[in-house]
Amino acid sequence: MTMLADRLKDRALLKTDSFIKGRWVAGAPWIKVVNPSDRSELARLTDVGAEGACQAIEAADIAFQHWKKTSVFERARIVRTWHDLIVEHADDLGALITAEMGKPLPEAKGEVIYGASFVDWSAEEAKRMYGETIQTPFPGSRGWTLHQPIGVVACITPWNFPSAMITRKCAPALAAGCTVVVKPAPETPLSALALAELARRAGFPDGVFNVVVGEAAPIGEAFTRSDTVRMVGFTGSTPVGKLLMKQAAGTVKRVALELGGNAPFVIMDDADIDKAADGVIASKFRASGQTCVSANRIIAHEPIADQLIEALKAHIDEIKVGPGFDDGVTVGPLIHDEAVARVEGLVKNARERGAVIHAGGAPLVDQLGGSFYAPTLVEGGQDFELDLANNEIFGPVASVYRVGNEDEMIRLANATPYGLAAYVYTRDVGRVHRITEALDFGMIGVNAPMVGSSATPFGGVKQSGIGREGGKWGVEEFTELKFVLLSGIDQ
Ligand code: SIN
Repeated sequence: MTMLADRLKDRALLKTDSFIKGRWVAGAPWIKVVNPSDRSELARLTDVGAEGACQAIEAADIAFQHWKKTSVFERARIVRTWHDLIVEHADDLGALITAEMGKPLPEAKGEVIYGASFVDWSAEEAKRMYGETIQTPFPGSRGWTLHQPIGVVACITPWNFPSAMITRKCAPALAAGCTVVVKPAPETPLSALALAELARRAGFPDGVFNVVVGEAAPIGEAFTRSDTVRMVGFTGSTPVGKLLMKQAAGTVKRVALELGGNAPFVIMDDADIDKAADGVIASKFRASGQTCVSANRIIAHEPIADQLIEALKAHIDEIKVGPGFDDGVTVGPLIHDEAVARVEGLVKNARERGAVIHAGGAPLVDQLGGSFYAPTLVEGGQDFELDLANNEIFGPVASVYRVGNEDEMIRLANATPYGLAAYVYTRDVGRVHRITEALDFGMIGVNAPMVGSSATPFGGVKQSGIGREGGKWGVEEFTELKFVLLSGIDQ
């Protein structure tokens, strides 16, 4: 703990208790937070459980009564101050992410700035929640709509983006006039608590922003059972998303779910292959492959498949794997040893089915002393039955398949219950339209390996989720549309 504190310019950002109603609240002694690069202990947490979650919900409900009436310009000022403090402390927040999640420090700082951009955007966008006047069929009447904050929002956030998934959900909610209770992943609570400390300094009134730390199931149930909580926002696995949706049905609350993906990365024979290979590397190895939008199935047009594989091999040879604080490292550890074992199982299945392993293909746990897996390139040929093709890999394994024609490439790309992100590399404008219209995914990058930004809608279709984060849509998600009919205006 002290070693991590020593890394920080502002040691007061290192917190381990929950943040409820503007105070730091300890619960029962709970688990340790561990650095996945070397398994060293970073902090010991306390668990406030369902009781703490209920206290936070109550505090958020009380705070909502005045926060919703605060002028949007005043709310935006406080949200903007939070943004400024996040940017000012980007080095420390980045160090916390690297320590608890493992991603390389430059990437971690990039996440902080990416996350802050949603705070900045939300502060501005909330001012633009416009209603409409509507022509009505009733003589002497007028109708109009209002966007009003939905109420208390519970956010359950993942470990792969310990900072940005909190800001992407909470900033639009807060700017829209909602109050928030966040439950961060137990692996990465330190980033969430540091954001709470900065929210306190930014001047959010007590109870507007709360963070509860503890075991997932009781806190999740407290959120979903509560009639006060009007919306649950979740980023994480599809099975947990389904469970939350089922639980939320009891009180008919809104859910916004950003769930698993199985992104196809479709590369056509007319594409710029060097750019496509760069794109695969950027998409695949960010966060060691532990993102929902990571290239999961690289579907190469047969004529360019060999060239692509050679280019990918050359890139992978240059990747430096190691602890995220080390200079020049671009791929860090996986989150824990179970994640390594899971990836190992997927690659074992590929090997058994005759896939060719061009690079990597083994854990580096013994060599590097943490939860490391070697950057890996698997050529699956035409075998779309591989476990690698049918599961979200969530690890640094690129799996390439060869397909002979465009229709078949589209069919295979869509052959998944998921529909979050997809990528297409082509220079043919006709293909751009045909393929993007045919792909059943919420976001499509054309000659672009990353799709998220504060200005644009992020979210999936099918079993990848419900709702959109980012842009004007991200703010609207946290509002209710109300219709007012005024009649009898004619004298
Ligand atoms: C995610 O993988 O959940 C988020 C990735 C992103 O925002 O780009």
